[in-house]
Formats: sequence, structure tokens, C-alpha cells
Amino acid sequence: MASQLFEPITLRDVQFRNRLWVPPMCQYSALNKDGVPTSWHEVHYASMARGGAGAIVVEMTNVEPEGRISPHCLGLWNDEQKEAFVPIVQGIKAAGARAGIQIGHAGRKASTHPEWGTDGSGLLAEDEGGWPTVGPSAVAFPGLKDPEELDTENIKRLVKAYGDAAARAVDAGFEFLEIHGAHGYLLTEFLSPLSNERTDEYGGSLENRARFLLQVADAMRQRMPEGMPLLARLSATEWVDGGITVDETVQVARWLKEHGVDMIDVSTGGNYPAKISVFPGYQVPAATRIKNEADIPVSAVGMINEPRTAEFLVSSGQADVIMNGREILRDHAYPLHAAAELKAEIDYVPPQYQRAYRTRR
Ligand SMILES: Cc1cc2nc3c(=O)[nH]c(=O)nc-3n(C[C@H](O)[C@H](O)[C@H](O)COP(=O)(O)O)c2cc1C
Repeated sequence: MASQLFEPITLRDVQFRNRLWVPPMCQYSALNKDGVPTSWHEVHYASMARGGAGAIVVEMTNVEPEGRISPHCLGLWNDEQKEAFVPIVQGIKAAGARAGIQIGHAGRKASTHPEWGTDGSGLLAEDEGGWPTVGPSAVAFPGLKDPEELDTENIKRLVKAYGDAAARAVDAGFEFLEIHGAHGYLLTEFLSPLSNERTDEYGGSLENRARFLLQVADAMRQRMPEGMPLLARLSATEWVDGGITVDETVQVARWLKEHGVDMIDVSTGGNYPAKISVFPGYQVPAATRIKNEADIPVSAVGMINEPRTAEFLVSSGQADVIMNGREILRDHAYPLHAAAELKAEIDYVPPQYQRAYRTRR
């Protein structure tokens, strides 16, 4: 039987050549600390697209300077940044992959050293070039800064900033967008009772905790063409008592669908230090529940490094798309190798590389 992993999938008006995609992965390579992508990004993303992925979700890109995880993270709050994304988008598209981008704000987890920065990790003090952080409540992520509670005026300002960033991404040529609602960044912080202690319309009930996220979905959708897909990445569970549960995430996914979101990119954790037992596909059961109970396509991610495992998950209906992060960092051409291993008939081995594939297997 033909590989289901290498069958196309269509969301709204966009057809993707296969179901093996690259998830967003921060590169900490805006070297001038201005949120502007550089030649690193251009080569990195085009190379992974040539490697056969169906789509690339460009790394978390922030709606304001204070939303960056580190000074080296990307932004889309001005037109200089927008223009610098154009060649990146062109490189991805020229290689036949669909170009998407994750739009986010790090909230109380902003203002840290890049992962491989000067002292390894951790909070970036103001005298080292850091900045004050914001969150739903003045509750710090353990080890990081005490955030300032956002007032409703600033929430409204940020909702508009998400919409403006979406409009710039559309102008730069991106073909789909993703809301970063996962990993303990600003929108997760609102969703989680562990970080959201508000008593206004943005705190308390699940409906209130999801309000900011849904307003962001509306603001982005309004600035996107009708036929362009919108994804949302969520942390389906925090793996800690008192945190977001998969039951709650199913409900949030139903609401997101009503607000114009086309696929949930299902991840977990990140809002609170937790002991997580990780193994290949450990996040898949949450993805499958969301797919079935919210009736919305899902992508699954997390150590799904074997082509046959990815094929099984898609062909058994547990996920619609598999995202593969670190394996594709190790080997940009992993999707082409996976296609060969699964004997999938594909017509996008770059002609320049075809001799390598004819002689390899
Ligand atoms: C270097 C690196 C950077 C990452 N940056 C992001 C990011 O910008 N946004 C995001 O949602 N997840 C990010 N992640 C998580 C990945 O998208 C992915 O969910 C995770 O690596 C698990 O998939 P894997 O086991 O296939 O690598 C990052 C992961 C890595 C390794």
C-alpha cells in the first residue's frame, strides 16, 4: 500500500506535498539583536525545504521586542524584519515546501540568555541587556523574573500586535501561520491556572483563561486571506497537578476551530518545571484525543524519529501530520531518506541530488 505519510494534505486552499513537516525551532541567530533574520536563517530553512519536508514552520517570531525569549530571537513588529523574511520564504517555496511561521510572545519566560548563550541559560538581568517581563499575574516561572501583570489595555494592544505581525507575515509571502499557544509562553500562561491568578474576564474559568488566545486567533484571522490556513500550537497537558489538562485542551481546540483555526499542533509542558516521561510518540495520545473529540486535524511531535512509526501514526488515523524537529536538524534530508525507506513515490528529490539517491539503495 502507498505511504500515507507521503500523501498530500490540504488545509483551506493550500495543498502540502506530504505530512512530514518541520516544527518551529528557535535559532537564536538575529545577531544584531534587532529581531531581523540573517543569512543563517536563509540557508537553514531553504536547506531543510530541499530535504523534502512538506512544510516548514519558521521558529517562534515575536510581536514586540519584550516578547523575545532572548535578544537573539526573531521579530515581526516592523517592516525591516518583514522585508528580511522575503528571501527566506522564497527559498522554502522554491524547494517545494510550504512556508509557515510561528507568531508568539514569551511573556514571563522572556529576557533570558539564548540556549547556547554566554552563561548557558537562565535569566538575562537588565544590566546585561535584559528587560522587565509581563504575564497574566505577578507569578514568576521558577528561576526567572517576577513578571508585571498585564492590564486590559495592554492585552488589547498585544492582541492588535499579533494581528499586525500576521499581516506582515502574509505580506512577506508566508502561506500559513501558527499561533504559539504552548510551552509556557504568554498565551499558555493565560491558559494555565498555575500562572493565571486573575479575577477579571481573563482569569478564573476556562472560558476566561482562553479569552486572550481566542482574541489573538480572531485578530490574526482578520488579517489573513480566507484561503490561508491558521494553526495553533498548544501544550495539551502541563504534566503537573493543577495545570492545564487534556480535557481542557480539547475544549480550547473546539473554540479555536470556531475562531478559524484549521489544525492543532499538539505539544505539552513548558509552563512549569515537571517530571515528564519522554519516549517516541509520548505526546501522540493527547493529539489523537484532540483530533477525535474536537474534530479538527492535528499534528503530532516528539521523538517520532523512525519513518515507520510516523507512517503508522498517520495511516492508523492517530495524527494527520507528523512534525520532526531534532532529527531534521541532524539530517536536513531526513524526509527524502524516509520516503526512500517507505518506498514512497515522490517527484521532489532535487535533480542535483538524484544520483545520490539512485546509487544509495
Ligand atoms: C533547537 C530547538 C528550538 C525549538 N524552538 C521552538 C520554537 O521556536 N517554538 C516551538 O513551539 N517549539 C520549539 N521547539 C520544540 C520543537 O518544535 C519540537 O516540538 C520538539 O523538538 C520535539 O520534537 P522532536 O522530538 O522531533 O525534536 C524547539 C526545539 C528545539 C530542539
